[in-house]
Amino acid sequence: MDAAERAAALRREIEQHNHAYYVLDAPVVPDAEYDRLFRELQAIEAEHAQLRTEDSPTQRVGGKPLPGFPPLRHVVPMLSIRTETDTEASGALAFDTRIRGLSGLGESDPPVEYVAELKFDGLAINLRYEDGILVRAATRGDGETGEDVTQNIRTVRRIPLRLKGDAPPVLEVRGEVFISRPDFERYNARQRALGRPTLVNPRNGAAGSIRQLDPAIAAERPLSFYAYGLGESRGWDVPTTHGGLLDALAAFGLPVCEYRAVVQGAAGLIDFHARIREARDALPFDIDGVVYKVNSLALQQRLGFVSREPRWAVAHKYPAEEALTTVEAIEVQVGRTGAITPVARLAPVFVGGVTVTNATLHNEAEARRKDVRVGDTVIVRRAGDVIPEVVSVVLARRPARDLIGDEPLHSAFELPKTCPVCGSAVERPEDEAIARCSGGLFCPAQRKQALLHFAGRRAMDIEGLGDRIVEQLVDHALVRTPADLYTLGLPAVVNLERMAERSAANILAAIAQSKATTLARFIFALGIRNVGEATAKDLARHFGNLDALMGADADCLQQVPDVGPIVAASVARFFAEPHNIEVIGQLRAAGVSWPQGEPAAVVGSPIAGKTFVLTGTLPELTRDEAKDMIEALGGKVAGSVSKKTDYVVAGAEAGSKLDKAQALGLSILDEKQFRELISS
Ligand code: IVH
Repeated sequence: MDAAERAAALRREIEQHNHAYYVLDAPVVPDAEYDRLFRELQAIEAEHAQLRTEDSPTQRVGGKPLPGFPPLRHVVPMLSIRTETDTEASGALAFDTRIRGLSGLGESDPPVEYVAELKFDGLAINLRYEDGILVRAATRGDGETGEDVTQNIRTVRRIPLRLKGDAPPVLEVRGEVFISRPDFERYNARQRALGRPTLVNPRNGAAGSIRQLDPAIAAERPLSFYAYGLGESRGWDVPTTHGGLLDALAAFGLPVCEYRAVVQGAAGLIDFHARIREARDALPFDIDGVVYKVNSLALQQRLGFVSREPRWAVAHKYPAEEALTTVEAIEVQVGRTGAITPVARLAPVFVGGVTVTNATLHNEAEARRKDVRVGDTVIVRRAGDVIPEVVSVVLARRPARDLIGDEPLHSAFELPKTCPVCGSAVERPEDEAIARCSGGLFCPAQRKQALLHFAGRRAMDIEGLGDRIVEQLVDHALVRTPADLYTLGLPAVVNLERMAERSAANILAAIAQSKATTLARFIFALGIRNVGEATAKDLARHFGNLDALMGADADCLQQVPDVGPIVAASVARFFAEPHNIEVIGQLRAAGVSWPQGEPAAVVGSPIAGKTFVLTGTLPELTRDEAKDMIEALGGKVAGSVSKKTDYVVAGAEAGSKLDKAQALGLSILDEKQFRELISS
């Protein structure tokens, strides 16, 4: 093989890899192999200058900086597109109605066929291929004349320098150059790391890159491209539909966006609009709407255009997801679990389809990183159903203290030391982003949550005290802390909405009954952060009484098996908050009590210290009941089978745990054998 043949073969192979990598997103060779082919081609071309062709992949970044972009007249004008600003389904309906009217279609005629596409947010480009080779690329300009940006466009890896297959003598392809969001983030992160300027947003980044006079700069920018239309073509059998055209462009190796559909009538358009609205946030690039085009090119021709805008196409927008507004105050909100979230109160602004007056700053670190201050102009974003958030501050618009100095009027955000709702201490455990109010039992913001947890089946087990009732008890100020439950009287409860006398009495009975509990249940019921049921049992077993637990410091708490520094710290914090101690005192005064010391039953128990695993459905006992029985007798229940398991209690449809137990040769019991064992 001579040098010319080898160079041609290398070019073909490299273009194939480019297509696989940049268009199909499915590379077939490792980068190192690609680099090797590339260097071999460069070497041949360096040695034989006559072999350096225009379509060679080595020529993507070959050009020298230009003094300016020469104007380039479009053979077929580049049209603009009408925008439908009604962002609801009615916008799509209006377009279809217009098309049907213009086409003289009556109500009984079949639906019009459309292609629905995305409206990309970048820069429109015309690519001219002659005999399959990219010869020129131009911006839209005024639609008649654009700028010749061929050098920069050659640097876009996704744009083939040579078309695949049987390309016609002339083919002009139209599409959008843009920057994807992940590429944008990566590029900016790298720029920041190098202390270089970042791009403001993907759209400006794409447009700005194409307008760089030095192609070496454009080459560094992560530009993408999607084809969506046709310019001039010669010697080509143009498909009869727009959908067919897009398929043909894809077959030539051009990137065409997967999110496109051939749909029928207004219903099809509305459906596409709704589907893309849902998918919008997950797309790797920004769009500001979708585009509908009449599918039949013959019908397109008949419909024609008015003043640079075709009648056969429309862009259907979505509500803008970002808007500018000003910060009126920064406050903190206390969530149901005590999480403290800084929130910016905003001058009302319409964004993402609703009027927004608050936006989350997530947490202290985020608020400081974004450095949002009162009086600032900020970009707010509300995408889909997500909580509105402050994206960034427009620093250029930050009000200064006076006309000379540039001291800001307001200082940076600081987390309050005490909870704005209840005054308890605010704590932020090390390594955690979220600060919390430590007044779990006392804080009004956490009341409902605390009460529901307290009454829960595995906690104080107050039957009938569910969501609806807790809601009302708190809203009517009948109950503030769990201790107040024990002072409720019948008249107050009967007065609640939809409450029969009988159910009121039942609830009061359940509350009274809950007074006799166990230490483990009581500890769990307190709702201490990071203390689940198992930890509550460990703590109860270890300390034996509440006062010892309340008096324990973090070191002492870590002596408890399975209690690490995080749990120890949150237990210590909980009992350090006087408000919580006060509520515990009230609970005890109300008569809440538990057996003192170790449960007597455990002494002489046949299963003390034994580990059980429960699997499958038992005929009579629920899993919780079986667990309670085992634990009452000093046994432990584990979640998975191991060599340390003493007994496996298996019911119907026991699965892999049973298989494993058999494999390990463990004792396997059914419910009857289990009952016999514990009563022995
Ligand atoms: S077709 C039919 N299709 O929108 C008229 N344009 O205002 C020719 N755009 O300059 C445009 N996505 O930059 C078409 N799927 C899409 C598009 C799209 C984005 C841009 C394009 C054009 C502008 C029209």
